[in-house]
Amino acid sequence: MAFYPLIRPLIFRLDAEKAHRATIAALKLRSGADFSPEPDRTPALETTVAGLHFPNPIGLAAGFDKDAEVFGPMLNLGFGFVEVGTLTPRPQAGNPKPRLFRLADDQAVINRMGFNNEGQAAGLRRLERRLGKGIAGVNIGANKDSADRIADYAQGVRTMSPVADYLTINISSPNTPGLRQLQDEGALRALLGAVRDARPENGPPIFLKVAPDLGEGEPHQIVRAAIENGVDAIIVANTTVSRPQLKSSHAGEQGGLSGAPLKPLALTALRNFRAASGGKIPLIGVGGIANADDAWERIRAGASLVQLYTAMVYEGPGIARRIAEGLAERVKREGFANIAEAVGTG
Ligand SMILES: Cc1cc2nc3c(=O)[nH]c(=O)nc-3n(C[C@H](O)[C@H](O)[C@H](O)COP(=O)(O)O)c2cc1C
Repeated sequence: MAFYPLIRPLIFRLDAEKAHRATIAALKLRSGADFSPEPDRTPALETTVAGLHFPNPIGLAAGFDKDAEVFGPMLNLGFGFVEVGTLTPRPQAGNPKPRLFRLADDQAVINRMGFNNEGQAAGLRRLERRLGKGIAGVNIGANKDSADRIADYAQGVRTMSPVADYLTINISSPNTPGLRQLQDEGALRALLGAVRDARPENGPPIFLKVAPDLGEGEPHQIVRAAIENGVDAIIVANTTVSRPQLKSSHAGEQGGLSGAPLKPLALTALRNFRAASGGKIPLIGVGGIANADDAWERIRAGASLVQLYTAMVYEGPGIARRIAEGLAERVKREGFANIAEAVGTG
């Protein structure tokens, strides 16, 4: 079972982005796009959020499967849902390489990928071919050179709605200059209004993904704007531009920091959003989650679902099943019948 620790030194000898591409290529070989229509069933972990029925609350965060190439294999590895993207309307190359750095001593990653992706048309074609019932969300963004970023999000909603179980409006990447300004109240209201207008009747639920680096009062503003514009859930959070104490030589690289050092910031941000929303809108906790204790803490702090990416780089793809087992144990130990009862009880 403990196969990943054996091959990790080989993977870590490769440059981080090459290792990522090799992993995607291997996953594609493994099981292509067809995945089992019946995911693992653990009734204590099944939960309904925004009208979607999740087999378990552990999701793969955006950025691993940017181009919707391997959501099937990832669902097969035990993730309760996979978020593909970020996909922008037009393909774009992203920032110059190197732009992805492992900080092994910190169990962290810094990335400044800059929304490299093949564009929404390519993602759409792949998602149209999907089989099975697993949940695939689609994270959408704006092209770097777009003259009208809000129009890019509206277009993303129109293009991807037919194939997405949910859509994530990502305004929190630090690697597209100015993007995070869409979190400011006026811009956010304009954006969410345009998204609401673009959403087709019976379209998928809309999630909003925010940064962990927000000022006081911002969670309140964002929650209000989200609820008033019919947003279905808020994902807290993206990578941080702050730099807590780090040991690795890559600590000074520009970009967004993820993994273990992000954990306290993301947990605090989640608590702030819970305090601001009082449970009126579902929250999805992400940032530095590496084991069942971390996931449980996030759920007790108010997350209905969780997501992870960086810990999988260090712990391997078995992480989703390990966390699911640990969560099921905790649900039972604490006397809950189902994970949903634990949300916000901490
Ligand atoms: C290499 C890399 C690429 C990412 N790309 C995206 C992206 O395209 N869109 C997005 O919303 N988040 C992206 N993220 C952020 C993750 O989805 C997640 O919010 C963040 O990494 C915190 O979770 P973690 O500590 O479990 O990695 C990326 C993260 C990493 C490490």
